Amino acid sequence: MLRLQKYLADCGVASRRGAEALISSGRVRVNGEVVREMGVKVDEDRDIVEFDGQRVRPQNKMIYIMLNKPAGFVTTVSDDKDRDTVMSLVSEIPARIYPVGRLDYDTEGLLILTNDGDLTYKITHPKNNVEKTYEAEVTGNISMDTLTKLRGGVVIDGVRTSPAKVEVLGATRLGTRMKVTIHEGRNRQVRRMFEAVGCIVKRLVRTEEAGLKLGHLPRGKWRRLTEPEVNMLKKIGTGRKSSADVSREMFGGRRIVNRSRKK
Ligand code: URA
Repeated sequence: MLRLQKYLADCGVASRRGAEALISSGRVRVNGEVVREMGVKVDEDRDIVEFDGQRVRPQNKMIYIMLNKPAGFVTTVSDDKDRDTVMSLVSEIPARIYPVGRLDYDTEGLLILTNDGDLTYKITHPKNNVEKTYEAEVTGNISMDTLTKLRGGVVIDGVRTSPAKVEVLGATRLGTRMKVTIHEGRNRQVRRMFEAVGCIVKRLVRTEEAGLKLGHLPRGKWRRLTEPEVNMLKKIGTGRKSSADVSREMFGGRRIVNRSRKK
């Protein structure tokens, strides 16, 4: 929540002091109502602020959010097959943001969205080896031999995957729950790694990316990244540390506070 005069200043309408004068002269509306008194706060994601009848938004501000993507949404801004896109889940954000990287239509979990092109480049460029962790429910049992194969790399389309961290989390009714950490981003990589060892992925959830953790963010909901989280992401590519190392250094064993938003 921001004070209305600060919001107007962020939109470039006037300085904070100038905005106070505009407010008292009745030229500013919040959600259709003229506001003349000082001290009113606005939710920059949800409230509609108008100046002289025109909606104003802080367009140039960098926005960083984490969405818990449900299955059944594409991670593009629009879809030529008219499927639901993740953009419909973040429609109240007052800027043109877009997804960083991809998750399959059926994959759930952590998806970063931003309007920061530099950061998108850092997170997605293969040279930065950004780690992504998935929990997968797969068919069948996983033997020690299969685990060794998955860890060492399996061949997909004639090319071996890089070594991965792979653990068994437990048994499920239909098979096994697995945790997989990779730093490559090949198309449907986790699903195809399991196919290569004769298993089918029944459910796939990304739980971590670049040191960020999905935590208890409810499915279909989003939250803004905290300042320490954004700072951590901005360090990607600045040294030889992996994103997971940077996360451990900044947050230690602590869980990053997860302030999920109610809609
Ligand atoms: N691996 C997959 O198979 N699918 C995803 O969406 C992400 C990683």
